[in-house]
Amino acid sequence: MENQITVEKATTKKPKPEADQLEFGRSFTDHMFILDYDVEQGWHNPRIVPYQPIILDPAAIVFHYGQTVFEGLKAYITNGGETQLFRPQKNMQRLNRSNERMCIPSIDEELALEAIKELVRIDREWIPTAPGTSLYIRPFVISTEPYLGVAPSKKYQFIVILSPVGAYYKEGINPVKIAVETEFARTVKGGTGEAKTAGNYASSLKAQELVAKEGYAQVLWLDGLEKKYIEEVGSMNVFFKINGEVVTPELNGSILEGVTRNSVIRLLDHWGIPHSERKISMDEIYQAYQNGELEEAFGAGTAAVISPIGELAWKGEKLEINQGETGPISKKIYDTLTGIQYGTEDDPFGWTVTVS
Ligand code: COI
Repeated sequence: MENQITVEKATTKKPKPEADQLEFGRSFTDHMFILDYDVEQGWHNPRIVPYQPIILDPAAIVFHYGQTVFEGLKAYITNGGETQLFRPQKNMQRLNRSNERMCIPSIDEELALEAIKELVRIDREWIPTAPGTSLYIRPFVISTEPYLGVAPSKKYQFIVILSPVGAYYKEGINPVKIAVETEFARTVKGGTGEAKTAGNYASSLKAQELVAKEGYAQVLWLDGLEKKYIEEVGSMNVFFKINGEVVTPELNGSILEGVTRNSVIRLLDHWGIPHSERKISMDEIYQAYQNGELEEAFGAGTAAVISPIGELAWKGEKLEINQGETGPISKKIYDTLTGIQYGTEDDPFGWTVTVS
């Protein structure tokens, strides 16, 4: 495969949003990356072009059967003016795990990372610098073959777009209210929950829409079969601190293996804070709450980093956690992760990658 990335620069530049107007995922930079796939040539023609709409046949498989995967990572400007990424190799590895699950041909991880770096270099001036802001990177693959039979596509595009972002939740690091979902399921074991694929997110919308009407930011997902064991919160992994120990659901085939999840576990290890990955039932959480042992709860994901949970609604009861305030462990993890990401804290793990 010809790996040389060609570049066509945009002739006009778009206005950039003001720092205080930044929302999550509403504005996009001047360029994008595209890589094509067909059976004869494999992945080919890596190119950076001006940001533009893509033209697809209305019969493209992605529209009908959702054969698609995506990733999410961020670029930051450090105090010293350097551009850096956070553990991007992990996203590229997961991209290929998602590809494998969705019958999409594997992508050269080094090429994908080089493409991201080159794109971020070209659109560097779009990286916002105000606290809490960053450049969100959205790599994704779509199946483009026009065909209405249910079968893996023979054509794909891998595309990367960039979006300057502010906080994912309007609450930022302030605690959100979460409703435990007892009716709908996001996925089940054996389904596609481990893959970062559109269908998991589409299936989450109804539950989110319903709880939003009651003032909840998101739902807490339970396992799809028994509705007993905790899986994720909204589009994030979830952690609880119970009687001094931090616990998170073990990976079970339906939970997404988050990069932030892994980073939180590594930090807890590093600090010597007791922690475990295991099955956690909602009954256990309720019991811990009643015993006064439910000390903290938080979501962990790339978009929001750490999102403390101030209240959990379950079976008509409201479980207030840490008086609805951000707990010390949640805050310490948030400060450390963002410190490493923005280059204000040491990075003993070698997590950051400089875009020179
Ligand atoms: C993340 O937090 O990394 C996510 O996947 C959220 C994204 C779906 C907006």
